[in-house]
Amino acid sequence: MENKKFNRYTITAALPYANGPLHIGHMAGVYVPADTYVRYLRQRGKDVLFIGGSDEHGVPVTLRAAAEGISVQEVVDKYHNVFKESFQKFGISFDVYSRTSSPVHHETASEMFKHMEAEGKFTVKTSEQYYDPQAQQFLADRLIKGECPNCHFPEAYGDQCENCGKSLSPDDLINPYSSLSNSALTKKETKHWFLPLDQYEDWLRKWILEGHKEDWKPNVYGQCKSWIDQGLQPRAMTRDLDWGIPVPTEGGEGKVLYVWFDAPIGYISATKEYFQDKQNPEGWKEYWQSEDSRLIHFIGKDNIVFHCIIFPVILKAHGGYVLPDNVPSNEFMNLEGKKLSTSKNWAVWLHEYLEEFPGKCDVLRYVLTSNAPDTKDSDFTWKDFQNKNNSELVATFGNFVNRAISLTHRYFEGKVPPQNKLDETDLHLEKNLAALPDLIAQAIEQFRFREALALLMDVARLGNQYMQKTEPWQLYKKKEENEGRIQTILNISLQLCANLGILAEAFLPEAAAKLRAMLHLSDTSWEQAGSLGILKAGADLEKAELLFEKIDDKQIEAQMQKLQGPPPGAEEEASAAEPAEAVEVPPFKEEIAFDDFMKMDIRVATVMACEKVKKSNKLLKFTLDTGIDQRTVLSGIAKHYKPEELIGKQVVLLANLAPRKMMGLVSQGMILSAEDSEGNLRLLKPNEVVNSGSTVS
Ligand code: 2FM
Ligand code: ZN
Repeated sequence: MENKKFNRYTITAALPYANGPLHIGHMAGVYVPADTYVRYLRQRGKDVLFIGGSDEHGVPVTLRAAAEGISVQEVVDKYHNVFKESFQKFGISFDVYSRTSSPVHHETASEMFKHMEAEGKFTVKTSEQYYDPQAQQFLADRLIKGECPNCHFPEAYGDQCENCGKSLSPDDLINPYSSLSNSALTKKETKHWFLPLDQYEDWLRKWILEGHKEDWKPNVYGQCKSWIDQGLQPRAMTRDLDWGIPVPTEGGEGKVLYVWFDAPIGYISATKEYFQDKQNPEGWKEYWQSEDSRLIHFIGKDNIVFHCIIFPVILKAHGGYVLPDNVPSNEFMNLEGKKLSTSKNWAVWLHEYLEEFPGKCDVLRYVLTSNAPDTKDSDFTWKDFQNKNNSELVATFGNFVNRAISLTHRYFEGKVPPQNKLDETDLHLEKNLAALPDLIAQAIEQFRFREALALLMDVARLGNQYMQKTEPWQLYKKKEENEGRIQTILNISLQLCANLGILAEAFLPEAAAKLRAMLHLSDTSWEQAGSLGILKAGADLEKAELLFEKIDDKQIEAQMQKLQGPPPGAEEEASAAEPAEAVEVPPFKEEIAFDDFMKMDIRVATVMACEKVKKSNKLLKFTLDTGIDQRTVLSGIAKHYKPEELIGKQVVLLANLAPRKMMGLVSQGMILSAEDSEGNLRLLKPNEVVNSGSTVS
């Protein structure tokens, strides 16, 4: 193993916001790769601490509380418990899973802030911040919306554009407005503590751009370079909010620490908690303050700037802490070709998977790793999930192990037969096998998990090919004559199974443990892998047990159906609602010919801009992207919608209606809406987001 200068590993996995359940995107991006790496390190006998926890501050948590109509504390308690249980059931082997509402965390973050303040590491500035006059409050970055300066998505947040992924600050937004009241914002004076990132630019350049060019992943390095090259600005480490860790210094009343100040410190607090529980309260220091500790952060790509720039500057400014040696970050995983979305319920939820596929954690780990978004966005499809299970795990891995162990029971009463003289085929296999553990290790150490898993499957493939070629069942037809050869073939096959039992531990921990139990392999080490001498002749085996089971079409269809279903909670809402009263509806119009209908060109269009038409209390003026052009359309729905809430939404447009002039403006088409008997208008929209210009028929 490389990195001899390190004696211990401090491995962190991003602390998920306790504001909604975990889905496959989280697992593929952060937790599965982190756990794979940690399991591998443990197998190599390394001193490792694997740290996780829930991020319970920040605006996403308060927004969820508002949406669910419960207190913020109730929200974080609920999701923290769901996370903890799901991670544990899924086999993410944290040494500690903590939370940022814990007293030890509040104390740690406060102390670090106070120390930095005392050392003059912040610049305290009174500045003008966006203020919502209607809601009478300063707004968190998340609550400010506006047009993205990068991709011009009209509904970017003040901290990030979800369309292009760019991290933003509210001042970057074009035409910012409040998402609380939909009103325009004013600016008001307030005092904040700023981390002068600009003063660390030279240091960051040296440390990252010169020091980590070779070992950080290109996507991570590239993002850091672009941040640094654009010039860093001081960033406020405090906020005018009431949920979070109170600013512990004078003048900080009514303010809290910025969530991105406190959350990464959560890794340190969790380590403290771990050692307090072990009655060794000083034990955390070695993992965070000793130069021979290797700190590695596993994160998603939207967290890069916080872990590569802001947190390291905090650690550096504070002094006394090690810096991350690597920050492996993945791109995003899509689902069935579309971006995962919590609000649209377009996701595979971890807690539901655990219930619906009991005993199949390894299958999901396998699929997420073999299709990992490690260099570019990837796509999860249920069909691929089924194929990978049925043709790779069942037909290749499981089938080989099952054949080797079952035949040993049939021919040799379940005892490992001796290995006699090796022939050409055996020697060839021995050579191929010997090279694989180092290749797997190298790939894991460089965070290329997808490649490492493919190499692991090569071991199973070698086994299958070997059996196909040597056909011990044919030789058994003349068993007296061939006994020695059959013994060797099955010995070698079982040795391959033992290799799989060792090498698969990091990727498929449940199957690997089952397999080692069948082979009675208890004390194994990575170093044994690659050899055909792991199992002793004469050793007893357990009966063959299936490692993987086929997944049938019905299970996959059920998942596909579920994806189309309503978002969580929607069914309850519908059934709890009062039965609708009978309402009067207008009679049908007279029949028209099919050709008349076909003359209408109805399209889906996306609202690029929307505003009230001056001097009209009915009309809204839309700028629509039709996929072909951008055009102005007027619609009489001003009493039913605020223009801001429609920006970015999709509408249905009669596109070939002759242009009409209204209030001095020309409208090129008609936006379709539904009107009830009381004259309420609701805009029509496609059930799911589709490309602008899609035809409607
Ligand atoms: O993106 C997120 O979900 C953040 N809660 C990650 C925080 S990681 C760390 F800094 F705590
Ligand atoms: Zn953007």
